Amino acid sequence: MVWQSWQAAWHNALYGPDGFYRQTSGPAGHFATSAQGIPGGGRLLAGALVILAERSGCTRLVDVGAGRGELLAEVAAIAPTLQLTGVDVVGRPGDLPGSIDWLVSPAALTCRPRCATCETPS
Ligand SMILES: C[S@@+](CC[C@H](N)C(=O)[O-])C[C@H]1O[C@@H](n2cnc3c(N)ncnc32)[C@H](O)[C@@H]1O
Repeated sequence: MVWQSWQAAWHNALYGPDGFYRQTSGPAGHFATSAQGIPGGGRLLAGALVILAERSGCTRLVDVGAGRGELLAEVAAIAPTLQLTGVDVVGRPGDLPGSIDWLVSPAALTCRPRCATCETPS
């Protein structure tokens, strides 16, 4: 057994190769959020965001920590001209509508513990 710091253990549990956030099922495989898992909830939230974007003159909506893009897919369905970008630690979900841009969070690539008391970054 290799001992590691509490920080590193948490980091690996979430972001490591088999980390929670990297599971194929995504958050929806474990719990419901306002964006998914509640019938009609995602569409309701998407509608509110579209109204807010229109009132604010926003032309792009960026969802950071987008899960598997569930909310953005709802937005795309009701506001096809709004530019949409999802950001998460996983690659682009295969079923995401083509009009939605997707970025892999830099944190996914670099968020290794860098504290001198933790392991050396791999
Ligand atoms: C509680 S889930 C919420 C997902 C989605 N926004 C929803 O409401 O259903 C948190 C999301 O944040 C993502 N996440 C965690 N750390 C991140 C980081 N450093 N950069 C980008 N996304 C991150 C996770 O992968 C996960 O999909």
